[in-house]
Amino acid sequence: MLKRFFITGTNARVGKTVVARAFLQALVKNGRSAVGYKPVARTNSAKQSGGYQKEIDLLQSTSSVTLPADIINPLVLCEGGSSEDDTRMDYHLLSDRLAQLGCQHDSVAIEGCSGWRSLMNDRRPLSDWVIKEQLPVLIVVGIQDGCINHAQLTAQAIMHDGLPLIGWVANRINPCMANYARIIDALSQVLPCPLLGEIPYLSRPEERDLSQYIDLATNTLLPAYT
Ligand SMILES: Nc1ncnc2c1ncn2[C@@H]1O[C@H](COP(=O)(O)OP(=O)(O)O)[C@@H](O)[C@H]1O
Ligand SMILES: [Mg+2]
Repeated sequence: MLKRFFITGTNARVGKTVVARAFLQALVKNGRSAVGYKPVARTNSAKQSGGYQKEIDLLQSTSSVTLPADIINPLVLCEGGSSEDDTRMDYHLLSDRLAQLGCQHDSVAIEGCSGWRSLMNDRRPLSDWVIKEQLPVLIVVGIQDGCINHAQLTAQAIMHDGLPLIGWVANRINPCMANYARIIDALSQVLPCPLLGEIPYLSRPEERDLSQYIDLATNTLLPAYT
């Protein structure tokens, strides 16, 4: 069973937090001590912190124990001002917190920031830190126009980085995609990892139990990563 895994997405707002919750719910239902971790969050401005705080609250409330918000999310980057945020990218802090969570819990679901090569304010992608930590990676594919292209490129980049690709989750963020089944079929054929879950379009997914949409059995077949 997976100990630590990193959740990336084909883009921003494709459902990484929703999928992180689904995995946490499924793991907790299976009797695991499981916590969410968001190393780097982004907010549009210091005043408009609601978006990222909601995200941290969701990870916090879905974890099997209630951890302080600054443990779940050590770094917040403020974007949207005229100058770039000068918050120091303290990668040691991100690693220390992850090590701490990994020692105390059976599973840590680590939510990334936007897509795989999304840049931090030091102009480095967070994927560099994921490589340093040698984390297995899960891709959330938001089913929308262009997702087959984005999903393949993301999978190729992760493999190029030498990381284990544990699977992908289809998240139906657009209820109007007429060719949904065909897209899932094509993705299943071209992505080099198993489909671990399929989340339908749901109103208020943040308020639901999503564990039923995740296939943990496929995960248990994989070697245990630490
Ligand atoms: N399966 C779904 N059905 C309906 N809405 C969804 C679904 N998944 C995500 N959403 C909505 O899409 C938005 C982005 O989801 P979120 O998990 O925050 O994405 P990310 O973490 O990748 O930025 C949220 O408003 C969320 O409620
Ligand atoms: Mg999120």
